[in-house]
Amino acid sequence: IVVKAFSANFVIPDFQGFCKQMEEIYNKCYTNHSGKPAEYIPQLARFDSKSWGMAICTVDGQRFSLGDVDVPFTIQSCSYAFMYAAAVGLLETEKVHSYVGMEPSGRYHNELCLDYNNKPHNPMINSGAIMTAAIIKPELSAADRFDYMFKVYKRLAGEEYLGFNNSVFLSERECADRNFALAYFMRENKCFPQNHKLHESLDFYFQLCSLEITAESGAVMAATLANGGLNPLTGDPVLTVDAVRNTLTLMHSCGMYNYSGQFAFHVGLPAKSGVSGCVLLVIPNTMGICLWSPPLDANGNSCRGVQFCMEMVSRFNFHNF
Ligand code: DON
Repeated sequence: IVVKAFSANFVIPDFQGFCKQMEEIYNKCYTNHSGKPAEYIPQLARFDSKSWGMAICTVDGQRFSLGDVDVPFTIQSCSYAFMYAAAVGLLETEKVHSYVGMEPSGRYHNELCLDYNNKPHNPMINSGAIMTAAIIKPELSAADRFDYMFKVYKRLAGEEYLGFNNSVFLSERECADRNFALAYFMRENKCFPQNHKLHESLDFYFQLCSLEITAESGAVMAATLANGGLNPLTGDPVLTVDAVRNTLTLMHSCGMYNYSGQFAFHVGLPAKSGVSGCVLLVIPNTMGICLWSPPLDANGNSCRGVQFCMEMVSRFNFHNF
């Protein structure tokens, strides 16, 4: 890193100038007061609408952050990206996609529907993520499965914070009629592997949505995706190259709920959004960005998070095409 600093050989050579512009965008988004936090469980509704954090980690380890970047929040459906990546690492692409499709659904993220092959449409919606949870280490006990995935997330976040919010887990499970309906619907349609334990998979899914991160840890996790699966700060090869390529492709086409097509059009970058107001944005081979602000728009995406992404690509040429 010292050699790179002296030779100005960083992926973002003028990092200071870049950060100054990111700060301007951050401040502009701070004045956006639209949307409101998710209310389906009290634990999420209690979050302060004013919370706003932005953290960056480049593939060569440069960091920048502003605002509420050390406040823990639950990862929610941003977890789907890593669950899927872990499943591909364990089972390989073909096996994983014998259970879940790769097509945007064009429907709500929790709609009771399957694709033309009778599979959940993709791993970035609830049904697909429940399926991914079902195929990760099903031979282990519930406790060992949780430990296994906790360690994967720990490696993704490196030195940054990773926790588990038990009250969110309990209330997620309590308020999960739709997720239960999705799982029963998939079981009725014989989507799961043989001997599958429906309640265990759902618990595992709720647990993985209830992991806590901060904007700082989210940025490192996104940067690991930007860096081909290698955590840029620890050098740990957490995810396989195939897993990263697949995950980024599906984040690009399906990561932002029913706004995914518009997001791909305007921003042109892989991203995954969660109901806690988190957006993980990946600029491949360059950096990971985590944006966190609880108020959501009609599509369920963080208002400030989406605005930030739009503003950023209007200033920098990060759009993929
Ligand atoms: O399954 C749920 O209701 C939430 N835990 C899902 C997380 C999320 O961010 C919303 N949807 N995809």
